[in-house]
Amino acid sequence: MAAPLPEKIQTAVVTGGATGFGALAVRALHKAGFRVVITDVDPGPAEALAQELDLAGETAVIGTLDVTKPDDFQTILDRSVERWGSVEVLVNNAARTAVQPVLEIDPADFNAIMAVNAGGTFTGCQIFGRHFRDRGYGRIINMASLAGQNGGTATGAHYAASKGAILTLTKIFARDLAPFGVTCNAIAPGPMDTPMVRSVITPEKMAGALANIPVGKLGDPDFVAGLVALLAGPEAAFVTGACWDVNGGIYMR
Ligand SMILES: NC(=O)c1ccc[n+]([C@@H]2O[C@H](COP(=O)([O-])OP(=O)(O)OC[C@H]3O[C@@H](n4cnc5c(N)ncnc54)[C@H](O)[C@@H]3O)[C@@H](O)[C@H]2O)c1
Repeated sequence: MAAPLPEKIQTAVVTGGATGFGALAVRALHKAGFRVVITDVDPGPAEALAQELDLAGETAVIGTLDVTKPDDFQTILDRSVERWGSVEVLVNNAARTAVQPVLEIDPADFNAIMAVNAGGTFTGCQIFGRHFRDRGYGRIINMASLAGQNGGTATGAHYAASKGAILTLTKIFARDLAPFGVTCNAIAPGPMDTPMVRSVITPEKMAGALANIPVGKLGDPDFVAGLVALLAGPEAAFVTGACWDVNGGIYMR
């Protein structure tokens, strides 16, 4: 009897995957058995990670993708399809975080943050969503934020508004892609223990910040990365259009 064919390795593209939480999501996906395409506006810092995960460059590769450029999304998709036949997962993680009082935000800065965070997520969902629809399978995971639900505390109105837009886009893509075997979910973390958060919540501000978190500590980004991998799996077929809150009890609904 012929040996069963090995199951096809699924491919996951992560935006903003070179540093911070994105790199942890890449690790979690790779550990869960996905081939990872680690993209970023400058993927250079991810080269060491890709080599650590797979020196042969087969299950972990890097690629340049500025999420404000639709052509970059299309190029990464086309190259991945050319090399491996298909892509199964997109993680829209890239974002710009900004801290500024609302009355001081320059409208041009507002638009720039919206373009990266909300615009980038829209473009990714649309371009990869078409591929997923045509294949009849796909998983989209959008990194939103508690700020998109409660208006934010440590971050600016542009960041918070962009994350609120991501939550709405998640529902729309989920609804329209559901008949095609494609799910689209959002994760809304509160402050996770990442370099970005530690740059915003300086040591002097930390005690005050923790006092406002019911569980009294920052979130574990590895747990959230595990959630990305969970939602990326084929078994996560019955969850779509959802927002997964991971906020230490700051916002309950
Ligand atoms: N850290 C937290 O506590 C927290 C909380 C809630 C939500 N989030 C969300 O999780 C995600 C990751 O957060 P993080 O803490 O790692 O942030 P980060 O700022 O450390 O990393 C963001 C990544 O996005 C990349 N990026 C920025 N602009 C880009 C562009 N135009 N195209 C492609 N890549 C671009 C950066 O190069 C970087 O690698 C973000 O969506 C963020 O909003 C984080």
